[in-house]
Amino acid sequence: MKIYTLIEDDKRKGSGYLAESGISLYFEYGGKRILFNTGASDAFVFNATLLGIDINKIDICIISDAYNDQIGGLKSFFSINNHAKVYLKSAVRSSYYIKRGSKKEPAGGVSQDFADKYAGRLVFFDYRIDIIDGITAASVKKFRRFPFYTSVLYEERNEGFINDGLEHELYVAIRDADGVAVLTGCAHHGVINMLMSAHEDFGEVKAVAGGFRISGIDKKNHLKEPDFEIAAIAKYLENHNIKKVYTGHGVGAKAMEKLGIMSRAQKIYAGDIFEI
Ligand SMILES: [Fe+2]
Repeated sequence: MKIYTLIEDDKRKGSGYLAESGISLYFEYGGKRILFNTGASDAFVFNATLLGIDINKIDICIISDAYNDQIGGLKSFFSINNHAKVYLKSAVRSSYYIKRGSKKEPAGGVSQDFADKYAGRLVFFDYRIDIIDGITAASVKKFRRFPFYTSVLYEERNEGFINDGLEHELYVAIRDADGVAVLTGCAHHGVINMLMSAHEDFGEVKAVAGGFRISGIDKKNHLKEPDFEIAAIAKYLENHNIKKVYTGHGVGAKAMEKLGIMSRAQKIYAGDIFEI
């Protein structure tokens, strides 16, 4: 199956595609045109046009989590596409923040106004949902600690701010005769938790594509994952014989180099078309 990279953190040198922090993937399966995340803005529409993809013809959209780098383009999506249903975890309906220095900045969530405005288009679910035959969006289980970076993520509740429990995040399992392919958005849970969840829910995973959440949010903070965690991810990928591994979002150049040396992971860029 071909996957088109509509948005990634980086673009190839000299490429005419737009890049921004986020991920957006497009693929066709079971006769349906499917969008996984929108990225942060309307840049995915520009890149889709260059790739020959008509946003208006998309049948299904799935959003991985509440943060703006994955859901930010949804308004633009609705302005072009008048029929696709959009699948999200119910917990996206809250307010999420990222702490930078001493300040908590709004960073995501679906407001009541937005949910009301697009009530006929948004499909919220709590645990797992079979979207079409062979494609399921599912909650991520916590088998091991979250990436260090997630300590700067907060949810605002009536009683005040709490650490984001990441209830709003999902992964997508795509199943065919040769096994399961997993799509991740930000992988706030950490990619190993996501792959372990998919393995437990659906069996052997043959491919994974999406963000891995290894690097920090900016050069100044020290919340990136240590080298031993990159090694743990590489070991997991190799031990479980996950043959195709594509990532980019949340994996800085140095982390990517280390991961690439230790495993068969390949970096994807905005505009790339790859096969899983
Ligand atoms: Fe992200």
